[in-house]
Amino acid sequence: MDLKEHIDLEKLPSHVAVIMDGNGRWAQRKGKERVFGHEQGVKAVREISEAAAELGISYLTLYAFSTENWGRPRDEVSALMKLLVQTIGEETKTLMKNNIRLQAIGNLADLDDRCLEELKEAIQTTSGNDRMTLILALSYSSRWEIVEAARSLARKALHHQLDPQHIDDNLFALHLTTSPYPDPELLIRTSGEYRLSNFLLWQIAYAELYFTPKLWPDFTRNDLYEAVIDFQKRERRFGKITSYSDGPDYVS
Ligand code: IPE
Ligand code: IPE
Ligand code: MG
Repeated sequence: MDLKEHIDLEKLPSHVAVIMDGNGRWAQRKGKERVFGHEQGVKAVREISEAAAELGISYLTLYAFSTENWGRPRDEVSALMKLLVQTIGEETKTLMKNNIRLQAIGNLADLDDRCLEELKEAIQTTSGNDRMTLILALSYSSRWEIVEAARSLARKALHHQLDPQHIDDNLFALHLTTSPYPDPELLIRTSGEYRLSNFLLWQIAYAELYFTPKLWPDFTRNDLYEAVIDFQKRERRFGKITSYSDGPDYVS
């Protein structure tokens, strides 16, 4: 039986987030430059986006470039930016065909002009699509986002637009770049590393974490199905006990 048939379509996570790690090691193991790994990684992005949309997952967030990744050698950073511009331009047609809406989170102002332009255009072109929302985390880091939210709340309080007494989980979450989307229920990290690398720290408070040794360019739709099947076997208690575990209080 096909792995996909083991998935209960009634119990899909509505939001899956992925730390796509291992491109560099994948290339190095083949005796190639790291950039070759990033290029192959784009193929996995295409396959996983399609597979997620076909399954019926509503939101897929992909960690594509972190704030800390700016600290890599200049050649690698510029190759990644070039690849991003090229990919976004080329993939818009596929996103339209698959009815996928593109969105982005992160400090997008840091991206170079060409990249930002392509991104804005793809976001605009795909804005009416409604099968799945694909969110690219670019120049993203969770601490950056949380500090931005704190700054924005402090500014409102300073201008008497907000009573600090009214700041709660919900209001804080509304000031994060992810405010339009539900929290991820499943977080996948490839490449055998067991860390979060500054990704969605607030939003994954109650996500199920799934780690796989597969390097990102080797991650296929079957690997996604395995992660979803594993997710469906977990008991999510949200701090309660089994019979009451119907979600955290702040999730409406
Ligand atoms: C993930 O792969 C892609 C980005 C961070 C842009 P890496 O480039 O981190 O690959 P490894 O972890 O060095 O193998
Ligand atoms: C996390 O991978 C960032 C992305 C996948 C974009 P890294 O390779 O940058 O993370 P570390 O350095 O292993 O923590
Ligand atoms: Mg890495």
